Amino acid sequence: MSRVPANYFDEPQAQRYDADSAEMFEPAALDPAVDFLAGLADGGPALELGIGTGRVALPLRRRGVRVHGIDLSEAMVARLRDKPGGRDIDVTIGDFATTRVGGRFKLAYLVFNTIMNLTTQDEQVECFRSVAAQLAPGGCFVIEVSIPDLRRLPPGETIRPFTVTPASLGFDEYDVARQGLISHHYRVAGDRLRTFSIPFRYVWPAELDLMARLAGLALRERCGGWHREPFTSDSPAHVSVWEKPA
Ligand SMILES: C[S@@+](CC[C@H](N)C(=O)[O-])C[C@H]1O[C@@H](n2cnc3c(N)ncnc32)[C@H](O)[C@@H]1O
Repeated sequence: MSRVPANYFDEPQAQRYDADSAEMFEPAALDPAVDFLAGLADGGPALELGIGTGRVALPLRRRGVRVHGIDLSEAMVARLRDKPGGRDIDVTIGDFATTRVGGRFKLAYLVFNTIMNLTTQDEQVECFRSVAAQLAPGGCFVIEVSIPDLRRLPPGETIRPFTVTPASLGFDEYDVARQGLISHHYRVAGDRLRTFSIPFRYVWPAELDLMARLAGLALRERCGGWHREPFTSDSPAHVSVWEKPA
């Protein structure tokens, strides 16, 4: 029997998503990502895994790229639908590790650390296979994901803060043996404290390359960010592009 993944982006989370991720909607963060993806899509069509509220898909659509999305969360997709242009984007509700929508895409992309939402290696491998099956020859798969912060995790400790401000706290809790982490978020909202914890499976660039190879894709480009900064030992994240042979 196939597994139904847990949906952490339920109605309350979907209601807050855009406001809580406001900095990711800023032109400084979003425009370089859209430029990068539009360049690879070359007119499209494109497939976004974990399309959410359309942060990336809507501006990409405005750049002339037809986008099809996959997402588990009806609530997130309802937010996309409510935005201008949101009804022009086809969305399939399902698990992006396995859901196939029947296209031949020039580009598939999975941004904002969302590959880590697949919490087992098997699911991440399956996701690469599914994408490879849906790419046209010469098509590209792009992942944006952070580098695990393990070099800053002292031996014997499991917790790394990722945000500490008067109004919000965030901690990653690492389970190194399982390659797992749980991100714990705490936000002050008026006189209340909102909490949200979500599990991830962190994954290294080399492991992603191997997953790509298992799926018949080859690394084309790895950058330290959407501006095509060099990827170095100190890069906190990477944007990687794998290509399906023409
Ligand atoms: C961090 S949000 C990113 C949304 C959007 N890509 C963005 O950049 O703003 C992650 C999205 O992936 C979806 N998601 C997580 N795991 C999923 C899965 N296994 N299958 C389909 N969607 C999933 C969530 O519902 C959520 O909408």
